[in-house]
Amino acid sequence: MLIRYNKAFEKIAMGLLSFMPKEKDLKKLQETIKLYETEKKWRLFLWKEEEDVIGLVGVQLFGESSIEVQHISVNPSHRFEGVGTQMIKALHEYYADYEIGPNKDTESFYKQCEL
Ligand SMILES: CC(C)(COP(=O)(O)OP(=O)(O)OC[C@H]1O[C@@H](n2cnc3c(N)ncnc32)[C@H](O)[C@@H]1OP(=O)(O)O)[C@@H](O)C(=O)NCCC(=O)NCCS
Repeated sequence: MLIRYNKAFEKIAMGLLSFMPKEKDLKKLQETIKLYETEKKWRLFLWKEEEDVIGLVGVQLFGESSIEVQHISVNPSHRFEGVGTQMIKALHEYYADYEIGPNKDTESFYKQCEL
């Protein structure tokens, strides 16, 4: 289930974000999480299964009709179970009226999701 990020999930979200190749540095990671906390057009979601948060997907909105997937990450113990693909599908349902695409950092995974 896709849920919206809030500050209570900060630590787990930073842990998941740190699996993105460009988010290894702590300072960069803190800047990224701050973007999601303060900028209205940056929206972060978590993937919850039962009580566990095991995935993260972050998007940036452009205008009123377009969205770019900025970050996507799954806890290594839950990879290859279809969670990443489910998050992309859930995002398409959540933003059904929007055109959705990846950025350079998410495109290799995004493009291999069968939507
Ligand atoms: C990318 C990621 C979110 C996929 O999550 P997942 O839940 O394992 O994905 P799914 O189970 O839905 O899909 C697995 C498929 O994605 C492929 N895949 C995994 N990472 C990939 C990547 N970076 N680029 C392209 N394909 C990728 C797997 O090889 C697998 O392919 P297969 O079905 O042909 O075997 C996860 O590997 C991750 O967190 N990676 C680290 C963060 C990252 O690099 N994010 C940006 C990715 S472009």
